[in-house]
Amino acid sequence: MKTAIYPGSFDPLTCGHLDIIQRAARLFDKLIVLVSINPLKSYCFTSEEKVDFIRRVTGDLPNVEVDCYDGLLIDYFKKRNADVIVKGLRAMSDFENEFQMALVNKDLCYNAETIFLSADVVGTFLSSSMVKQIAMFGGDISSYVPHEIEKDIIKGVQRLGKDMKDEY
Ligand code: PNS
Repeated sequence: MKTAIYPGSFDPLTCGHLDIIQRAARLFDKLIVLVSINPLKSYCFTSEEKVDFIRRVTGDLPNVEVDCYDGLLIDYFKKRNADVIVKGLRAMSDFENEFQMALVNKDLCYNAETIFLSADVVGTFLSSSMVKQIAMFGGDISSYVPHEIEKDIIKGVQRLGKDMKDEY
């Protein structure tokens, strides 16, 4: 039985992420979508909100589990006896950072193989930051995020926008 982990910030989940989840779920017996933390980033949504969003749109995928972890990815990888780390690659600009993370993870644990899936056409230009910017200024994000979570994403982004205005 092969278990893969798909880690990411998912702040918030986009259709690009969902495409990677659906394709990776077909390749492995079990796929754990892991809401992780990059300590250098600040986030709009809490890990609990992000887990809830992902669970709501992956309910039809029986071999997908959603979890969150605020430590090193490789510690979680070992704890779950996983075989593979899955990442989505949008453009060459993603490559350097992703390649570096794959090498670091392999150095920390020799068995940790990272596999890259290429993004689909829309996923190539899509990012969570773009979605947040569009939503913050009232633009249409309906083709970029799953419809089940669109309203909650808009609410969360506008909450952040209000907090930012209050600060100034
Ligand atoms: O969606 P992102 O922001 O590109 O995801 C990056 C993430 C969260 C997967 C990465 O920062 C990560 O693995 N964080 C967990 C902490 C960790 O293990 N850091 C070392 C990675 S080399």
